[in-house]
Amino acid sequence: MAAAISTLSILLMVWTIKAVDGAGIGISYGRAASNLPPPVQVAQFLAHGTTFDCVKLFDADPATVQAFANTDLAVDVTVPNDLVANLTDLRFAHKWVRTNIVPRVDDTNIARILVGNEVISTANRSLVSSLVPAMQNLHTVLTSLSLQHRIKVASPQSLGVLSTSNPPSTGKFREGRVAEVMRPLLSFLRATGSPFMVNAYPFFGFAVDTIDYALFRPNPGVEDQNTGLVYSNMLDGQLDAVFSAMKRLGFDDVDIVISETGWPSVGDPRELGINVDNARDYNKNLVQHVSSGTGTPLMPNRTFEAYIFSLFEENLKPGPLSQRNFGLFHPDLLPVYDIGVLTTEVGGQATAPVQTLNPTPSDSKRWCIPKPNTDVLLLQQNVEYVCGQGIDCTPIQSGGVCYFPDTVPAHAAFLMNEYYQTFGRNAFDCDFGRTGMITAIDPSYGSCVYSS
Ligand SMILES: *[C@@H]1O[C@H](CO)[C@@H](O)[C@H](O)[C@H]1NC(C)=O
Ligand SMILES: *[C@@H]1O[C@H](CO)[C@@H](O)[C@H](O)[C@H]1NC(C)=O
Ligand SMILES: *[C@@H]1O[C@H](CO)[C@@H](O)[C@H](O)[C@H]1NC(C)=O
Repeated sequence: MAAAISTLSILLMVWTIKAVDGAGIGISYGRAASNLPPPVQVAQFLAHGTTFDCVKLFDADPATVQAFANTDLAVDVTVPNDLVANLTDLRFAHKWVRTNIVPRVDDTNIARILVGNEVISTANRSLVSSLVPAMQNLHTVLTSLSLQHRIKVASPQSLGVLSTSNPPSTGKFREGRVAEVMRPLLSFLRATGSPFMVNAYPFFGFAVDTIDYALFRPNPGVEDQNTGLVYSNMLDGQLDAVFSAMKRLGFDDVDIVISETGWPSVGDPRELGINVDNARDYNKNLVQHVSSGTGTPLMPNRTFEAYIFSLFEENLKPGPLSQRNFGLFHPDLLPVYDIGVLTTEVGGQATAPVQTLNPTPSDSKRWCIPKPNTDVLLLQQNVEYVCGQGIDCTPIQSGGVCYFPDTVPAHAAFLMNEYYQTFGRNAFDCDFGRTGMITAIDPSYGSCVYSS
């Protein structure tokens, strides 16, 4: 009992700290894929294997929300667009909250209910006009349950709500129906202490000559002639355009949260600027920039809560190849690339992530990893085989530096490489019954360093 109470008070303390510190780095957990691990495994991985503070779901699927129970992650759940109009009926709003939120309030840190995704840009008149009444109804229901201070109601929008964004000081919401809904939306957010959430993607705004500007790499900067302010990166320009548009309507006191941003690592040949290095640089620099306290030229000294899109490669997403390749992780929880968000736990204490700057592949370095899509049973046999050959298997055991992600493919990858490096780096040392392959890309992540 005492243990239960202290766990609860620690949880409450953590929640309070996170609520005060608005600079959380979050991850968008999309599930448009046929091959993802169970939500419980994902939640444990995010809570114990990464430094993410918060997670954003694109629905309120009960099993997925429940998976985050008793973790210290703040969870944003989403009402899908096709239920937004239903929420204009207060009875439906009551029912939705009773079904999706109330069962979880004692054990899960649900921080926000997001109403739809990019609703205003759908240009569906009845949907757009339902938005603010739906948000008000949810807030009314939360208030009746005394949950309104703990759970905020918000609604992510795309940059498409702006008619002008360049230079940033000219940022302006579209006239007509957009401006009509934007005023009541911002009034609601102000009155309820909720942020304006925006999906901002320099990836969709850069040109060949502005890629360094988009990736937060060294560049000459871009001056806003109206203000004389110099922008060092495109995201700041996008955020300041939103800020200018809000200020024009008198709402520059409402906080801004980056509800989605990211960069794909693989794309079709005709898609520009896509590779692993660019994706890694964007996301890594993003995390550093929004939490640095530098702010933007029009919002100096601020930090921004930001959700990277996305957690996984999602093989069921339609559109160009890049759409399926925004993920930081493969479905087996192995990193696509490392941006320094991985931790390892030693004796239950999360240690600070060790930033490994993956060296660019050199000619001589080679690693052995499993072939993609190899049967898990075969990989499990490899694990047992390698551990029976005198190789040190403690790194993949609980408390070891390569324990997370706790999956067979991840553990097999580490051990197959150890075997390959120990026994002479011959091609046949990486055969493993045709389940192994040699790569020139360093699979190391966090403090899990693969020998070479
Ligand atoms: C939401 O409203 C639509 C249109 O009125 C209706 O067809 C649908 O069944 C409603 N959904 C739920 C879950 O009640
Ligand atoms: C517009 O939104 C309404 C309410 O959600 C929905 O019933 C309708 O199907 C949508 N129309 C289109 C064309 O998507
Ligand atoms: C931002 O921080 C700097 C350095 O601490 C300070 O000089 C400046 O006044 C701050 N600006 C604002 C707008 O708070």
